[in-house]
Amino acid sequence: MNKPIGIGVLASGGGSNFESLVKAGIPGAKFRFLVVNKPGVGALDRAKRLGVEALVIEPRAFADRSAFYDAVAGEMEKRGVSLVCLAGFLLMIEPNFIRRFPGRILNIHPALLPKFGGKGMWGHHVHEAVLAAGEKESGCTVHVVDEQFDHGPILAQAQVPVLPGDTPDALAARVLEQEHTIYPETVWKVIRKMGESKP
Ligand code: GRF
Repeated sequence: MNKPIGIGVLASGGGSNFESLVKAGIPGAKFRFLVVNKPGVGALDRAKRLGVEALVIEPRAFADRSAFYDAVAGEMEKRGVSLVCLAGFLLMIEPNFIRRFPGRILNIHPALLPKFGGKGMWGHHVHEAVLAAGEKESGCTVHVVDEQFDHGPILAQAQVPVLPGDTPDALAARVLEQEHTIYPETVWKVIRKMGESKP
């Protein structure tokens, strides 16, 4: 059997997507490492519970963002990570990190991209904007990360209805449920492709 593909996760918050990825038991994948960019976030507790090694790496400890991403990439590579999943990671990914993992960084966004993406479109802001625009439908998108926010090639989407009287929280919960399904499914597909392209 092929060696499992090492996955690293970057998160900034609660980490429910991180947990859903690990718990999915994706064949051919090994979750090697979680990096969070601030101390005390929920994702760290989940990593402990799930037995995944985790590290806090704070951007302010470095001269600039590029140095921060060099350090994160180095820690990932040391642990055999070859696919990076962003799971509620709120910082813009810099070009030097993308060059270390070309086409191998995935993100999940809680809206139907290309709508409701880009700078400032994160967390509750996304769902507020969807409701304010009077959309009948929202959902989530898994995409490859490139040098622009919420922009790279789309790999999968799942739709949910916007219901009368929805609040941002109610809509967020409906979308999150779908995130927990399509992210592991998509990572599994990517892993299978990566396995096929190995010599
Ligand atoms: C999710 O909606 C994710 O799509 C977005 O931020 C939220 C994070 O949730 N980027 P969690 O930290 O995975 O629980």
